[in-house]
Amino acid sequence: MKSILLVCLGNICRSPMAQGAVRLALDEAGLAHIETDSAGTSGWHVGSPPDPRAVKTALMRDMDISGQRARQVETTDFDRFDIIAAMDRNNYARLRELQPDGSTGRVHLLLEFAGELPVREVPDPYYGGDDGFDHALDLIEQAARGLVTHIAARSKG
Ligand code: 4NP
Repeated sequence: MKSILLVCLGNICRSPMAQGAVRLALDEAGLAHIETDSAGTSGWHVGSPPDPRAVKTALMRDMDISGQRARQVETTDFDRFDIIAAMDRNNYARLRELQPDGSTGRVHLLLEFAGELPVREVPDPYYGGDDGFDHALDLIEQAARGLVTHIAARSKG
């Protein structure tokens, strides 16, 4: 287990926050050697920093995501990353379409790792207010903790 890719549509709201949350949880668990990155299924915002609302929401929780720059998912990502975690079912379906036969990465919904949560998708906060970003990051953080627990258990085994 070496690498995790977080994926949403634009790569400027949810997946940059998810990368921040997974990065922080990995570092706190002593798993700093595991690589993280984020990407979008669309190329609409390639090269852009995260949305200012995402940067602000993450910073309130001690994550500085301002240095990230958006990129689009590439075919090589499916071999480069062990876990590819989608924010919603549309992202998941698109990833499964793009995934080359025989590639080694495993595509998941991020919230599969969130345990008891009654939802499996991180809602897109792009068209709403700051509340949407806070709610998205609540869900993301719960999944980030679950994901890191899952990895820590596997790396001991
Ligand atoms: P994200 O949010 O997928 O969480 O980065 C969005 C960002 C931009 C757009 C849609 C969703 N957009 O339509 O440009």
